[in-house]
Amino acid sequence: MAITKQSCLSSKRFLFDYLLLFLLSTAALASVFSDDAEISGRNDLFREILRDEAVERLHELGKVSDADGYLERTFMSPASVRAGNIIRGWMEDAGLRTWVDKMGNVHGRVEGMNASAEALLIGSHLDTVVDAGIFDGSLGIITALSALKVLNINGTLGKLRRPIEVIAFSDEEGVRFHSTFLGSAAVAGILPSTALQISDKRGMTVQEVLKKTSIEITEENLLQLKYDPKSVWGYIEVHIEQGPVLEWLGLPLGIVKGIAGQTRLKVTVRGSQGHAGTVPMSMRHDPMAAAAELMVLLESLCKHPKKFLNYDAHCNDISVESLSSSLVCTVGEISAWPNASNVIPGQVTFTVDLRAMDDMGREAVIYELSYQIYQICEKRSVSCIIERKHDANAVICDSELSSNLKSAAYSALKKMIGEVQDEMPSLMSGAGHDAMAMYHLTKVGMLFVRCRGGVSHSPAEHVLDDDVWTAALAILSFLETNVN
Ligand code: GLV
Ligand code: MN
Ligand code: MN
Repeated sequence: MAITKQSCLSSKRFLFDYLLLFLLSTAALASVFSDDAEISGRNDLFREILRDEAVERLHELGKVSDADGYLERTFMSPASVRAGNIIRGWMEDAGLRTWVDKMGNVHGRVEGMNASAEALLIGSHLDTVVDAGIFDGSLGIITALSALKVLNINGTLGKLRRPIEVIAFSDEEGVRFHSTFLGSAAVAGILPSTALQISDKRGMTVQEVLKKTSIEITEENLLQLKYDPKSVWGYIEVHIEQGPVLEWLGLPLGIVKGIAGQTRLKVTVRGSQGHAGTVPMSMRHDPMAAAAELMVLLESLCKHPKKFLNYDAHCNDISVESLSSSLVCTVGEISAWPNASNVIPGQVTFTVDLRAMDDMGREAVIYELSYQIYQICEKRSVSCIIERKHDANAVICDSELSSNLKSAAYSALKKMIGEVQDEMPSLMSGAGHDAMAMYHLTKVGMLFVRCRGGVSHSPAEHVLDDDVWTAALAILSFLETNVN
């Protein structure tokens, strides 16, 4: 598989191959999509809705931000509420009945011919990271709505075999509360009621944040948000790949085989606050220097898990092998108190984001990491607290849904470019998705869309307009085949 191939190459060789393949695939793509006039003239491709309007909407939503000069929409922030209202309008434009639930998720539904049949759910998230790109999350919502709009215009929306519901989830990134999937986990029924009392940096709880937007949520009505698994047929999600493989292969779409499991930790290190000019180096208990050592330890452990882990009941050889190719660890946020240049800090906190395909292996890493952290803190005479903020096990996508999505993607590609020679790739996702939470409710399937340079969680994130079109066409084809 391409991911393995890539990880086995030396970095220089990889760069060379990558550039070569990029140039070849760009050239191939240019010829694929160059006959614009011919493609535009075809009315089975719905260019105005699936491409032009979808791209326009992505840019419009990409401007809805809480920050000046960059994109930031966290759980139920003013910009998130504005974005939800805009999406709700697009749902109505597609002929859907809409509502906002008590976790701030925006729903749009059409019953079709049989309101009591199991529904197909399609979704992604409306929240973003800080300084985000415009495609992560929004792409899945907008392509689904564009496909449904086409069915509405064709007059087939009311004749569908089963209900279809698009859900724009309120929180997948977990930026505000460090607890991802607040929206989708509520719908899947796996969000504990204690989640309502988690606080953000300003001390506002999830419940208070919702109340500020006039949503009164209680423990009882959180339980009511859970969908009955018997009422649901499956969940599908279109998402930007956020990695380089599809671009490398020169293909706009790929199927997702599974999603890596993830854990988020918060580490608090406490030492002795003091004067930067007067406390001798030998007498310091500096939590900042300790945190630095802990971060370097984390990097070594995650780069060379084999050196740290023993093969025993907690971590078998399969887990350790799998960790060597899939384990990734990141410290993305750090804060110090009192955070002044002439003060030895009293306290430092930082986050750890840790992902792996193998759940047992991930547990073994967390166990080893915690052990080593406590050892280092003891050696430095500082105190350490490790809090586990979020856990999600790895997910395997449903084979039947994946095969149906694959046929739909082939059909879209054929319509766009004629014959398709290449085998559609099946990728593992290192990024988390709402599908991970929805997996606890129903079977899930995902389609990835190529992005430029594999870049995501950055304003440089980019998807070609024609790839947005191909993805929307694939969803349309999926609906026509599986729901019509
Ligand atoms: C979401 O984008 C995540 O994987 O952190
Ligand atoms: Mn996402
Ligand atoms: Mn993201």
